[in-house]
Amino acid sequence: MKLFDVYPVNPIEITRGAGSYVFDSKETQYLDFYGGHAVISIGHTHPHYLKRITDQLHQLGFYSNSVQIPIQKELASLLGEVSKKPDYQLFLCNSGAEANENALKLASFYNRRKKIIAFTNSFHGRTSLAVAATDNPKITAPVNETDNIVFLPFNDEEALEKAFAEMGEQISSVIIESIQGIGGIQVASVGFLQKIRFLTNSYNAVFIADEVQCGYGRTGKFYALDHTGIQADIYTMAKGMGNGFPIGGISVSPKFIPWHGALGTTFGGNHLACAAALAVLEVIQQEQLIENAENMGAYLLDELKRFEGIQEVRGKGLMIGIELSPELKSVKEGLLSENRIFTGAAGCSVIRLLPALNITRTEADLFLEAFGSQLKKQASSGTGSQ
Ligand SMILES: Cc1ncc(COP(=O)(O)O)c(C=O)c1O
Repeated sequence: MKLFDVYPVNPIEITRGAGSYVFDSKETQYLDFYGGHAVISIGHTHPHYLKRITDQLHQLGFYSNSVQIPIQKELASLLGEVSKKPDYQLFLCNSGAEANENALKLASFYNRRKKIIAFTNSFHGRTSLAVAATDNPKITAPVNETDNIVFLPFNDEEALEKAFAEMGEQISSVIIESIQGIGGIQVASVGFLQKIRFLTNSYNAVFIADEVQCGYGRTGKFYALDHTGIQADIYTMAKGMGNGFPIGGISVSPKFIPWHGALGTTFGGNHLACAAALAVLEVIQQEQLIENAENMGAYLLDELKRFEGIQEVRGKGLMIGIELSPELKSVKEGLLSENRIFTGAAGCSVIRLLPALNITRTEADLFLEAFGSQLKKQASSGTGSQ
């Protein structure tokens, strides 16, 4: 049997990782400023993470949600503390799409409505409602198409007001990434987020913050929405939560009353996944990684703004987008092939930086130096290498 070929891949095989570095099968070292797509939050093979998972595996890897699982309560309690939402409730699942799927469904159970507001350039996942709320017709199959999703322009307060004035009583939820990831590191304005909060409150609709990519400490606050002082009704999370171990979740406001059977999953919240997630939160807390993300992010953003030839630098903390002019589009490729640095992309003109939250100043400087040399090189070659 061969693989179902859906991923465009680099011709590199990563065989091991340590901290912010990964190594290929020939032991070539790469600096990881991509974090396997914003997933690596505490660095590769962190000793505390390895120990927590190994100890748990020796004890019990899995048992279903039909029995008491105290480690889930331990995780909920620490997540409540670190996210500063001790009164919220945790439902565990396995991925970002699933987290959004459950959030949208819970909102609809709550107010018995069907319409969902989503925004241009959004990405919420590839399952049924999540992909329907994703602004990318290429990955939406005919069976996913639904009139229940209404797309509005991102950061357009007037369009939002108009939509609520026209159909507010039908709107179940508004789902937004307060910093769009795949959409190219676009930051929602505080005014726009406040308007969403005001309108959802006024119409008893649910505010869902998709924090799958921008959450979990990445932007220098636990949730990216925390920069605004606004509270969402449901926060969805996944990527950084397990540092690579598949786990997702939703943090649900106390106003939602659970009932048996409302949500459910076989694998969600299994012992091993909870051990991984607890290890991540413990490291985030003990090593003050949210503060580190804030400081390292501010440093990188400041330094990046000094380079000539960049169109725009956007983002917060360690979620950074560098918009390049079209003739510099080979910078990303040069960083990988010549400087051995992994970065992410959005379209062909935005480089996305999504490193682990514990990167050091030395690693930030290594990136900046390499980036500067690639910029110069590509600019002087006129057209870039491709
Ligand atoms: C903002 C956002 N939401 C949801 C998802 C979907 O997460 P997953 O791939 O774990 O289903 C992603 C994935 O990139 C994402 O960036």
